[in-house]
Amino acid sequence: MTSKHTVLVTRKLPKAVEDRLKRDYDVHLNPDDIMYTTDDLIKLSGEAEAILTCNTEHFTGDVVLRLPDSVKIVANYSVGVDHCDLESFRKRGIIVTNTPDVLSDATAEIAILLMLGAARRASEGERMMRKGSWNKWSPEFMVGSAVTGKRLGIIGMGRVGQIVAKRARGFEMEIHYCNRRRLPEANENGAIYHHSIESLLPVSDILSLNCPATPETINLLTAERIAMLPDGAIVVNTARGALIDEKALVDALNSGKLASAGLDVYRNEPGGSPTISKLPNTFLLPHIGSATIETRNAMGFRALDNLDAYFSNRAPRDRVA
Ligand code: DGY
Repeated sequence: MTSKHTVLVTRKLPKAVEDRLKRDYDVHLNPDDIMYTTDDLIKLSGEAEAILTCNTEHFTGDVVLRLPDSVKIVANYSVGVDHCDLESFRKRGIIVTNTPDVLSDATAEIAILLMLGAARRASEGERMMRKGSWNKWSPEFMVGSAVTGKRLGIIGMGRVGQIVAKRARGFEMEIHYCNRRRLPEANENGAIYHHSIESLLPVSDILSLNCPATPETINLLTAERIAMLPDGAIVVNTARGALIDEKALVDALNSGKLASAGLDVYRNEPGGSPTISKLPNTFLLPHIGSATIETRNAMGFRALDNLDAYFSNRAPRDRVA
């Protein structure tokens, strides 16, 4: 790169990422991590050639239309791009990239944590200890269900789904999956393919959602589908809240159809669902699937690699629009 290109960064990023940005670009950072309104975002985009953004900024069709002509590329600091109206970006000829691969291990770790936490009632136990209200031990005290040896159903056998399966094999789980395409046999490692969600659900003692939120997958877990799970099943979601009909989930958790749920993502973020938060049989985290320093650095570097490629007249590796 000969001259420095201008980049607007919408959120405060890890230091190592910001250092590289400052070294290589004429960058507008957000050191106070202010949540920009759409008007702020448009105004700040001013003369920027690139925007480096997170999934907290919603690039709806209207926002994309209002972006100044100077903006040529939007590099996401996320693998999910459901906050971006990709069609509108395509129409405006603005390139969009994401950060696949680098957060798969971290997200799979959280999926396993949610499974264990939900199955073993970790949230209830933890709250009891913090309240100082643990006052007995008995054979039926805090009894949950085992993860070891259970059947795990995975919807979305992409990068994260495959790592969840790999980790789950350590718990001797039988892996079933549903995916748009069957994996090559060498990558299945014994996992059993289901061509439909309806076929997968009845064999899923634990169901893990690992697919992106797209028009085809939004609301995929409905009341009718929850009813197809084995009684006492566990639902785990590290993907996107929009995949689940939250009312149906709450009803199933209240009725005992589902033993418990482990959730890292919600329809309403940040904040989550007050109704879900009140249920004792949920193990809840605040969208921290990718929240390790290693991963957050790697996400930033991957977003920067995409910008570097674009400004060096090479094809960005992770172009999604
Ligand atoms: C992603 O990258 O999509 C994760 O949800 C973290 O933002």
